[in-house]
Amino acid sequence: MIEFNFKFVLKSAIGGNGLDESEIRSLKFELARARDYLYELRKRREIGFYDEISKTGLLTEIKGAADKVFSGKIDTLFVFGMGGSSLGGIFLQEALGRVGRIPGRDVIFSENIDPFHLHRQLDGIDVEKTMFCFVSKSANTIETVSQFFIILDILKKSVSDYKSHLMFITDKESGFLRRFADENGILTLDIPKNIGGRYSIVTAGTLFPAHVMGFDIEKFLHGAVLYRDQSLNRNIFENNPLYTMAAVIYLFYKRKNRNILVINPYTDYLREFSRWFRQLFAESLGKNLLSPTPVPAVGATDQHSQLQLYMQGPQDKLISFFYLKNPGQDFKISPGEFKEFNYLNGRNLSNLLLNELKGVEYALAINRRPSFRITIDKIDEFTMGELSFMCMEAVAVLGMLLEINPFDQPGVEKGKKFSYLLMGKEAAEEGEEVSEMKRLDGIPDMPY
Ligand code: PA5
Repeated sequence: MIEFNFKFVLKSAIGGNGLDESEIRSLKFELARARDYLYELRKRREIGFYDEISKTGLLTEIKGAADKVFSGKIDTLFVFGMGGSSLGGIFLQEALGRVGRIPGRDVIFSENIDPFHLHRQLDGIDVEKTMFCFVSKSANTIETVSQFFIILDILKKSVSDYKSHLMFITDKESGFLRRFADENGILTLDIPKNIGGRYSIVTAGTLFPAHVMGFDIEKFLHGAVLYRDQSLNRNIFENNPLYTMAAVIYLFYKRKNRNILVINPYTDYLREFSRWFRQLFAESLGKNLLSPTPVPAVGATDQHSQLQLYMQGPQDKLISFFYLKNPGQDFKISPGEFKEFNYLNGRNLSNLLLNELKGVEYALAINRRPSFRITIDKIDEFTMGELSFMCMEAVAVLGMLLEINPFDQPGVEKGKKFSYLLMGKEAAEEGEEVSEMKRLDGIPDMPY
């Protein structure tokens, strides 16, 4: 279950820097229109994450593929994927790692092309016992394809049947990796056409590694489905906090110059969730000169790092806290003969963490700085399904409020074009990139 507390965004708590409840409620019409429009896109099958979570056959395909992979000597799954194609798996691995996990099965993620790190990762595995899984919606991403060539080379030199050590999770029809798989009879799973990388936590791209790690992906999808249905069936402000959250972020950004959204879980279970949510938020909303900038942080660790800035730096941040009610395990604090710490006697470590969070909320409020809190009762597959779906829908709704398309990423494409050129790929025509590169290369380095 997920609970929300928006008290510290209100004028009654933080004065003129806050919002009136009526201001939030006055967005009801825009929120309803956003929901209707998303529903329309869903009906036209232009976006797929709403329906993938209840698609029949998805679980069977994933479980069938895993049975195939692990029927012999394989004991390690090495997953390659950039951005949304690995962040969901990394988030669930960290959050649920303490819950599931099949003994004798390791899952490793590579989300970068740093050669030193890749060497280190490869040094630690037995290639003979490893399945290399390439996750790429486009099946063409330069980093993932380059990693594939490196692995293909290694496999050809070290195993007798290299094809049985490869699998791909990609778009069903297009892209280089898909073509290679089809031509070589390599195991594949599909990512639907209408789901982009950052919404792919509900596809085989994330759910396959999650299942291999031993997590109950059925329960995860159940959490997502329940969240979807509840938010669709209730009125906008009828115990439907995802819309309030979208409205709060939107209003603070548009009317209060809060250009930064801090994503601040108070639990180590959700450190990687912050990175996943940041990517979902930034790549979906950062367009047309718009969007708050999402910044990850973790409490209480970052109270000794960024908090000073959040308390007394520029008045440009809205802080979202994520609190875990039941951490599963705890410690009792016993100061013994150290009398000056008597007040800690018999208190749990989790209680200290909660009171530090509350202390920060009060201190922010006194400094007239807005925050809101999202509480998750426990970490399990169901709550992670709820949380992921809630974040994806909130981002989609924010996209509608900001009047931008949260499902494309044109800015990323530009950077890719330059990299291709620099790596020697011939441009189809002398486009803007070539002339800009020539101009920039013509400027001498600044002497210092
Ligand atoms: O969220 C996104 O769309 C991106 O982060 C992609 O996941 C990332 O660029 C990798 O693309 P692909 O999955 O096509 O390899």
